[in-house]
Amino acid sequence: MKSTILITGILLSAAIMGACSAGDSGSTDTMDHSNMSDEEIQKTNGEMENGHMSHTNPLALNDSSGENELALPPLLKPQNNKENIYTITAQSGETEIFDGIQTKTLGYNGSFLGPVIQVNEGEKITFRTKNELDEKTTFHWHGVEIPGIGDGGPHNYVNPGESKDVKFTVNQGAATLWFHPHPEGSTAAQVYQGLAGLIYVEDEQSKTLHLPNEYGINDFPLIFQDKQFDDNRQLNYKFAMNDDGTIGDTLLINGTINPKLTVGKEKVRLRLVNGSNARNYTYQLNTGDAFQQIATDGGLINEPNKLREITLTPGERAEIIVDFSKYDANSEIALLNENGAILLPFNIDEQKSSNPSDIPTNLNDYSVTNEERNLPVSKKLELFGMDNMVTINNKQFDMNRIDFTQKQGETEIWEIYNKPDMMGGMTHPFHIHGTQFKIVSIDGQEPPVSEQGWKDTVAIDAGETFKLAVKFNNKGIYMFHCHILEHEENGMMGQVEVK
Ligand code: C2O
Ligand code: CU
Ligand code: CU
Repeated sequence: MKSTILITGILLSAAIMGACSAGDSGSTDTMDHSNMSDEEIQKTNGEMENGHMSHTNPLALNDSSGENELALPPLLKPQNNKENIYTITAQSGETEIFDGIQTKTLGYNGSFLGPVIQVNEGEKITFRTKNELDEKTTFHWHGVEIPGIGDGGPHNYVNPGESKDVKFTVNQGAATLWFHPHPEGSTAAQVYQGLAGLIYVEDEQSKTLHLPNEYGINDFPLIFQDKQFDDNRQLNYKFAMNDDGTIGDTLLINGTINPKLTVGKEKVRLRLVNGSNARNYTYQLNTGDAFQQIATDGGLINEPNKLREITLTPGERAEIIVDFSKYDANSEIALLNENGAILLPFNIDEQKSSNPSDIPTNLNDYSVTNEERNLPVSKKLELFGMDNMVTINNKQFDMNRIDFTQKQGETEIWEIYNKPDMMGGMTHPFHIHGTQFKIVSIDGQEPPVSEQGWKDTVAIDAGETFKLAVKFNNKGIYMFHCHILEHEENGMMGQVEVK
C-alpha cells in the first residue's frame, strides 16, 4: 500500500506541474508537455476548458454513494440569553466517519467540526472561547467585522486549558460566515483535522424577505471539505500534506462521508461553504438546470442571480436556492463538481414541506459608489509563487512586521495583482480579516454578477488584477493572506494595522 501511495504522490506532483501551465486562464500555453503522459495532458486540457482554472484539483474526488443522510451542525444557543454568551470549546475526540471505525478528529463543542452560531445585527455578544486541545490554538471569525484584538489571528493565542472572552457588537448584515483556528504554523493542520464552525448573521431586512430559513428543513449549510484518509482511516495531516495545497480524494460534507440530502418538493436554500484546505469546487446540477444565487461571502446580493454553475475557492461562500418543486420523488438530482463527480445526491420526499418561501426580486441594496470607483489605488499587493516559495510583495509572513496601515472607517483601494510565473501561475484565494469589501474591478472590468456583493475572499487567477474597496470599521491588527491554507502557512500572508 505504501508504494501505491508514493506513486500517487509522484503523479500528483506531475499533475500539479501540468495544471500550472493551464493556470493562465487558457490564453497562452507555452509549457513543454513532452514529459507528460497523455492522461496528464488530458487532465491539463480538461482544466483549461473549465474557465476557472483549478491548479489544486488534479486528484479527482470520489462520487458520493449517497448512503448516509447529511449531518447537520447543531445550533448553538447562548448560555445566558440576556448576555448572549456563546461558549465555544476546541476539543479533540473520535468520530465514526466510516462505519465502525473511530477516526481521531478535532471539533468545537463536539468531536468534529462545530456548531452554527446564530446572531443578529446590532446584538452585543460574547464568544467564550476555551482551548481543551493539547496545543495552542486561536479562534478566528472569518468574515466578521470585529476589533483586531478579538479577531483570532496568530497574535491571539489561547493556550491549552485557557479560556478567553471575545466581546463585540454585531455590526454587519445577514450573511453566512465561519470560524476556524489561525495559530501560526498549525492553521492548516487544525482545520484539516476538523476545526471549523459557522456563524449566521440575520438583520431586520433579511427577516422580512421570506427566503427559505427553516434550519435543516429548507435551509441547509453545506461545508465542503476533501480529505485523504490513510490506511487506518485516520486524518494524518503530515502524510497528506502538500506544500501547494493539501487535497484528498474523499469529500465530506458537514463531516458526512457519502452524503445524501433529503429535501421537500419546494425551494431549498443551500449555504455553500468551501472549508477545504485547497480544493476549488465548481458546483452544478446533474440535470444542467439553473439555480438562483442569493448571497456572496458577506451578504445578500441585490437580486437573485440565475446560474448553472458557481465556483468557490477555499474560504469563499455563496448561498443558492434550488427549486425542487419541478422534480418528483423518482427524479435523480445531484450536485456535481466541474469533473462530474457526484458531491451530493438529493432525495425528494414529497411529504416534507415548510412554510411557503419566496425569492423576492429585491434582496439588498449593495453598490459600488462613484466615489469608490474614482478613488486612487493606495495599496498595491503582488501575489507570486507556488509551493513553499509563495510571497506577497516578495515577502513572507513575519509576525513582527506590519506591512500596511490604514485608518479606521476610511475606504482605500487595494490593488492586487497575481503575477504569473514561467509555468503560468495559479489561482490564489485572497482573503482579508475583519472586513467585508467590494470588488471595484477585475482587470478594469465590472466583476461578474456572482461577485457583485460583499466579499471577504476572492479568487484571483494568474495574471489578473483586482481592485478592492476596503474599509475597516474597527481598529487592530488584521491578516490578509491566500486562503490555500498551506500557502498561508508558507508565508503568503501579511498584516495591516488599522488605527
Ligand atoms: Cu479564514 Cu485568515 O482566514
Ligand atoms: Cu479570516
Ligand atoms: Cu495561494
